[in-house]
Amino acid sequence: MNHHLSLAGLEEKRDAIVARTLQWWDGARRSLAWRAEPGEAPDPYRVWLSEVLLQQTTVQAVSPYYRAFIEKWPTVEDLASAPIEAVISAFAGLGYYSRARNLHACAREIARRGGRFPSDEAVLRALPGVGAYTAAAIAAIAFDRQAAPVDGNIARILARLMRLETPIMESRNVIASAAKALAPSRRAGDFAQALMDIGATLCRPRNPDCSACPLRPDCAASGSGAPEAYPRKGAAKAKPRRMGAVFFAHRRDGAFLARRRPPKGLLAATVELPGTPWTGDGPGGSWAEGAPIAARWRRLPGAVEQVFTHFALSLEVYAAPYEGAAPDHHFWVAQDAVPEAGFSNVMRKAVAHALERGRGGPAEPLS
Ligand code: ADE
Repeated sequence: MNHHLSLAGLEEKRDAIVARTLQWWDGARRSLAWRAEPGEAPDPYRVWLSEVLLQQTTVQAVSPYYRAFIEKWPTVEDLASAPIEAVISAFAGLGYYSRARNLHACAREIARRGGRFPSDEAVLRALPGVGAYTAAAIAAIAFDRQAAPVDGNIARILARLMRLETPIMESRNVIASAAKALAPSRRAGDFAQALMDIGATLCRPRNPDCSACPLRPDCAASGSGAPEAYPRKGAAKAKPRRMGAVFFAHRRDGAFLARRRPPKGLLAATVELPGTPWTGDGPGGSWAEGAPIAARWRRLPGAVEQVFTHFALSLEVYAAPYEGAAPDHHFWVAQDAVPEAGFSNVMRKAVAHALERGRGGPAEPLS
C-alpha cells in the first residue's frame, strides 16, 4: 500500500477500525489507578482529576500525584473544601501554580452545583482549567458521550493513519475531523483510551511497533514502509539573532583579560571575555566603543557563532595589546589556564578565535 487515506476513506473503514481497536483494548488495556475496571462505572471526579493532572505530562509522572490526591481528597467536595495552599503543595513539581488554582476553582464550582459533573462537552469546556481536549476526554471516558479528545499522541496516530503530508500544526482541522469521524456512538470512552494506549505503547514517536498495532491494516504510513517519517516535521522556527563584540586584551606573556558573568541568568557565573551587551539591532556605530579599556583595537576577521535555546548569537572579536593593570572586576587569565578557567562554550570559541586570527599582525583596520 503506497497511498494516503482520505477522510472519506476513513469514514468508510470506521466500523472495522473501531471494532479492531476495541478488541485490542479489551486484551491489552493498561491498568491505571484512575481507570474503572471493565464493567465498573467510572467516577467522573476521578476521570476529571486524572485528566487535569495528566495535562502536559506523562502517566508515569502523574501516578504518585494522583494517588496522593485521592487519598487526601476522595471526593470533589473534599477537594473543594481544602485550603488552596494544600492543593498547591500537593501539586508542587507537576507544573504551574495556575493549574493547581484552576483545579481548586473547578472543584469548588462542581461542589456548588451539588457535586455533579456535567456530561455535556460544551458545558465541561466552560469549567476552570478544562480545555477542548479535557472536555472531550471527560465526556467520553466518564459519560460515554460520543466525543473525540485529541492530544499529541492521538494526533500522531491519526497523522500516520492517514499519512498526512503536512505537519500536525497545519493539519489540526483534518485531524480533528478524522477523530470525530472515528469516534463511535457506543464505547467512545474505551475507544479514546485505546488510542491513548496505542500512542503510548505502540505508535511511539520513534520506533513504532506496527506489528502489534490493531490499526496496521488501515494505516497508510505503516503501509508506506516508513511510519516514523510521519507526522511530517514543520520547518524549525527561525531564532532571533543577537549581535555583540568581545575584546581580547593580551599581554606580552600571553595572558588576557577576562571577567565573570553575574550569578543569575544566561551562562550564570561563567567566565567570559569582556564585551558589549548582546542586542538585536547591532552597535549603531563601532563596537569598539564598548571596550573595557582604551587601546588600539583591531577587528579580527570572521565572527563567533553560537545558537542558544532562544536566540542565535554572532560575536565580533576585537584584539589589542595591553600591558596595564586589570580594570575593576577583570582579571588576567594565562593562556595555558584556559581549559580550567570556567569559560562557557561560546567564550572558549571566542578565545580560540582570537588566538588563531590574532596571530600575525594587523588584519583589518579598526572599524
Ligand atoms: N493521557 C491522558 N489521559 C489519559 C488516560 N485517561 N489514560 C492514559 N493516558 C492518558
